[in-house]
Amino acid sequence: MSDNLHQLRCFGCGARISGVEAQADFRCAICGDLFEVEYPGWNQRKGNDRPNAGALKWLWRERRCSSEPLDHSGVWRFRELLPILENFGNAVTLQEGNTPLYPLLRASKALGIDQLYAKHQGMNPTGSFKDTGMTAALSVAKERGFEWVACASTGNTSAAMAAYAARAGMRCLVLIPEGKIAWGKLAQAMDYGAVTCQLKTDFDGCLSLLTEIVKQAPIYLLNSVNPYRLEGQKTPAFEIAEAFDWNVPDHLIVPGGNLGNSSALGKGFRELHELGLVARMPRISVIQAEGANPLVRSFENSNGATLEPVEAKTRATAIRIGNPASWRKAAKAIQETGGWCLDVTEAEIAIAKAELGAEGLGCEPASAVTLAGLKKLRAKGAIGSAETVVLVLTGHTLKDADYTIDFHRGTLLKEEETAGFEAKIKGLQRNAVAVDATPAAVLATLKGNAG
Ligand code: F0G
Repeated sequence: MSDNLHQLRCFGCGARISGVEAQADFRCAICGDLFEVEYPGWNQRKGNDRPNAGALKWLWRERRCSSEPLDHSGVWRFRELLPILENFGNAVTLQEGNTPLYPLLRASKALGIDQLYAKHQGMNPTGSFKDTGMTAALSVAKERGFEWVACASTGNTSAAMAAYAARAGMRCLVLIPEGKIAWGKLAQAMDYGAVTCQLKTDFDGCLSLLTEIVKQAPIYLLNSVNPYRLEGQKTPAFEIAEAFDWNVPDHLIVPGGNLGNSSALGKGFRELHELGLVARMPRISVIQAEGANPLVRSFENSNGATLEPVEAKTRATAIRIGNPASWRKAAKAIQETGGWCLDVTEAEIAIAKAELGAEGLGCEPASAVTLAGLKKLRAKGAIGSAETVVLVLTGHTLKDADYTIDFHRGTLLKEEETAGFEAKIKGLQRNAVAVDATPAAVLATLKGNAG
């Protein structure tokens, strides 16, 4: 598998170009669609010439005990499946990936699903799944000699980009929607030295503005329209397959925003399948917030054939996106695997997040849509009790502490949003209480919380 040769294939018209020929906005010059990285050497291999699956699986596992820095990355330890660099010595890594796969004990009982897990991508170095994509695409930028990189972001991409740029000694520009990103994420971009512009527009506006900017200056675009991002973000599929001894789970449930992540995980499982490393793909389902659900509408209106942008509104700011760039790729992942595309309400997101928290697994609101979506899929009989389910938790709970505190204080949701869920919410709320600084007062509080 030393075919260190990749090319870019247009997802729309199928045109093929070399990596260096891509336009600054990563759109196809012929049809305007996005590209995917492909490795022509893989297709030419047939029969005995195919990769030795057993040897690769052994090598990837062995690397976890290696003393080589690149092997400590959960992205680059699978480098045979992402040969995007001329020289792997150019890889910029923060030892991302290798994230935990936690069994969800309480949710599993409550939903009657024996095998329910959370792949916690919030346990990456900057606290979100974006690190796996950033190590890949920023390394390409470095290898190609760029000094500046840039992204539009709802917060996590910018945090990841700023950290990796700082490690590489590169400069970075961040465009964020003013007032609509969580403080933890903004703090990270500042800490890692990004030039941060807060714009009076939404994420979609930031991205379209940046698309113009990169055409006018030598700045490398690091949003997930950049196909190298998806190469890094496909590697959790490899980790999940490995964790199940290369028997893939039945269902993978992913939050949907700009739809790069679901596209990337689909590509990861597709490639494992095509290379004969796994026997099938999991069903991939994408869950969106009700107020930011353009893909759900697309499936309702045209079975994923066309997409009308919406004006996005949700407190899960990470997925407040109305015009997702990678929607065609995500639609393909859902369609080819027989998955579903659903939306969930603000109350359902908040409840699911608190339930995950009560299991000791904090996550961002955007990540909690997965559990909220699973409940709906289970209720409509789409997922059986004997099936194996993996939820992808995309971000760490500390990214958006305000949301969590507001939930527990009872100030997050409006009355009309909580209708029908009042008792459930009350049972999950754990507000901090003001207590006199005496043993008797603290002990009295304990009594009040007994049981
Ligand atoms: N979850 C979190 C925590 C995110 O930050 C994002 C996207 C998503 C889910 C959705 O992933 O866009 O690949 O469908 N955040 C981007 C950002 C857009 O700028 O940080 P997606």
